[in-house]
Amino acid sequence: MRQTRVVVVGSANMDLVGTGPTLPRPGETVLGSDFVTVPGGKGANQAIAAVRAGASCAFLGAIGSDAFGVTLRARITAAGVDTGQLRVVYGASGVALVMVNAVGENAILVTPGANTAFTGLTGGELDAVREADVLVAQLEIPVETVTAAALAAREAGTRVILNAAPARQVPAELLAAVDLLVVNEPEAHALTGRGWDEPRALLELVPRAVLTLGGAGAWYGDRDGADVHVPAVEVDVVDTTAAGDAFTAALAVAWGEGREVLDAVRWAAAAGAACVRRLGASVALPRRDEIDALYTPPAG
Ligand code: RIB
Repeated sequence: MRQTRVVVVGSANMDLVGTGPTLPRPGETVLGSDFVTVPGGKGANQAIAAVRAGASCAFLGAIGSDAFGVTLRARITAAGVDTGQLRVVYGASGVALVMVNAVGENAILVTPGANTAFTGLTGGELDAVREADVLVAQLEIPVETVTAAALAAREAGTRVILNAAPARQVPAELLAAVDLLVVNEPEAHALTGRGWDEPRALLELVPRAVLTLGGAGAWYGDRDGADVHVPAVEVDVVDTTAAGDAFTAALAVAWGEGREVLDAVRWAAAAGAACVRRLGASVALPRRDEIDALYTPPAG
């Protein structure tokens, strides 16, 4: 089996993660317990997750000229991701303030910093997109950049997976270039204006879609008639941060390897479950053997 070539176009953040019994309400101070600083950002997480899941992966994005940027580049590169075209821009790197409560739920505030300067894809960056099997993108960078990458991918026959996170509206031009959309409930609502019980509304926008449902699993549907609930994999939850990133990356890797898309969704669900067992975005992203251990092929 040939190794899937993934290119991720997205954000890199330094995650400052604090754990405590509850998430503070506005105006409230809560005494917490642990603190860790780990590389994160949906783009960098998905790039690292793709490598751990078995792909080769290039990451296209921007870090700042600060100390966080130095650490981000070192850690993403050390994870085996090709960072040869990762940009450094003057100023602060993206930072995410992540709070995690006792049942693993989180609240995240992102200050995007250098991610906002990731515009105007170069010829080399566009070539990397064209040469990949799968483009994976999210929405923590300017949407014009995501659109340019998706259009280049579509023209070259590179599959396009858009994880439309965080929730925001997406231009029709971008949606028209998407092969497979991955969203959670608020993200789906931002795109369709409909509730979680109407996931097929996503198929008015894209040909295939996954709606992740946290502890309730995921839904997969496509324009060929698939309308399937994929059950959650039961694990002890420590931190749900980056579960969607592990899911999206595993989906890209498995689909790129030629697995049926529904089987790839099942494997991705195992990846998401494997991720929530550890604290800290990039630290928690699972290896391929950890995903395999939680994956159950469909009966028959
Ligand atoms: O998806 C999780 C990520 O969202 C975190 O790593 C944080 O940086 C935010 O971008």
